[in-house]
Amino acid sequence: MKIARKPSAALLPTPVVLLSVTGEADTPNIITLAWAGTVCSSPPMLSVAIRPSRYSHELVNAAREFVVNVPRAAQVEQVDLAGVWSGREHDKFAEIGFTALPATQVAAPLIAECPVNIECVVRHQLTLGTHDLYIAEIVATHYDEDVLDSRGRVLTGKIATMAYAEGEYWSLGEQLGKYGQASKPLRPKNG
Ligand SMILES: Cc1cc2nc3c(=O)[nH]c(=O)nc-3n(C[C@H](O)[C@H](O)[C@H](O)COP(=O)(O)O)c2cc1C
Repeated sequence: MKIARKPSAALLPTPVVLLSVTGEADTPNIITLAWAGTVCSSPPMLSVAIRPSRYSHELVNAAREFVVNVPRAAQVEQVDLAGVWSGREHDKFAEIGFTALPATQVAAPLIAECPVNIECVVRHQLTLGTHDLYIAEIVATHYDEDVLDSRGRVLTGKIATMAYAEGEYWSLGEQLGKYGQASKPLRPKNG
């Protein structure tokens, strides 16, 4: 039997990402986000949703660009800290122990310890309610060499990122199969 409940953000789990953005006095900030997703293949675009009360909201509004860093499951403690501390009181790069690396297309730094770093420029901003949605174009991507095979293909299992649902962090488990295994594909692999 199905149990009907009131409408809620039930599309779970979601990815967990660390958004880095330039801050005041040359101190960049980091915010943990679970409301993030891929929204367009070409031009490549992603979305992040940030509450106006966050310090990072102020910073993204000013900079109009940021980096989305994909953490490894092993970095769950650092991810949690970046999601409970505010940059108003903490220098999260220094106190969490992350290294800021220069990006190539934006002023925000990459988090060196994250295996995937996605440089973004904001193209649209929508006020939705509790959150503002930023739709941003991906202008550069970076991968740790250990998450690419010899032909440059991304090894998802090596990234070993995490997911978030109902206040819990989860690892991703095993690969289930491959795209198109059930029938002849009609569409390109990436949406
Ligand atoms: C797992 C996790 C996911 C989160 N997802 C979001 C999110 O999608 N949007 C948001 O505005 N805040 C989110 N938060 C809360 C912010 O990360 C948190 O309020 C943070 O301290 C804000 O930092 P800042 O004030 O330096 O911007 C999340 C926190 C955690 C721990």
